[in-house]
Amino acid sequence: MVAVDGPSGSGKSSVSKGVARRLGLAYLDTGAMYRAATWWCLHRGEDLADQAAVAHAVRVMPLVMGLDPTGPTVHVDGTDVGEAIRSTEISTAVSAVATNLDVRAELRRLQRAVIEAERTPEGFAGGRGVVAEGRDITTVVAPDADARVLLTASEEARLARRSLDVHGTADAAAVEATKDQVLRRDRDDATVSQFLVAADGVVTVDSSELDLEQTIDAVLAVVEQVT
Ligand code: C5P
Repeated sequence: MVAVDGPSGSGKSSVSKGVARRLGLAYLDTGAMYRAATWWCLHRGEDLADQAAVAHAVRVMPLVMGLDPTGPTVHVDGTDVGEAIRSTEISTAVSAVATNLDVRAELRRLQRAVIEAERTPEGFAGGRGVVAEGRDITTVVAPDADARVLLTASEEARLARRSLDVHGTADAAAVEATKDQVLRRDRDDATVSQFLVAADGVVTVDSSELDLEQTIDAVLAVVEQVT
């Protein structure tokens, strides 16, 4: 099992999918689970400030994660929410849900169950065959992962990537429009998870100067060291 954490715009989703494809492993996007939880709460009309109501909603959320790294899917109550959870509305609201400690406990329980279920004889190191990425995978969800990587990048590189994702361009105006949201989200998220510095035993990969393939290779090199 490979655990990858990092801030917004570090490239961890594309890199983790690439690593899973190259190693023939499943892929679990835990950020998508927090996004799906946020979508579900808004869909039900919950007040996100009502911690107990949000926690209850998440406990009854019918969530199904598709783990194929070539086309991961997210369904809530039978609805494909893969696109909807990437909206600005969800990106702005997600930290409010993700900083709810009862929500975190519930989603971590689901994440561990998915990781355990992915034990395949032919899987990675004959053990748990999944690449899981997020903010607290290396530290809390799977501190016993075979390989643990913190993916970082300079603020400039992260903002440019995020801007390209959201606006399709990384020109100055687009970067400026993305900046507040990205930095605020990282600041809020950092109050409940430690993903800005590597914990003991976690290897930092800085992708600022690397393209996608080079970053995948750098993470694969970390994996090779432990297998
Ligand atoms: O990775 P992504 O940007 O899709 O994550 C969306 C949000 O989900 C983060 O901003 C954070 O609030 C939350 N998250 C989390 N713990 C994780 C993964 C994501 O709190 N392991």
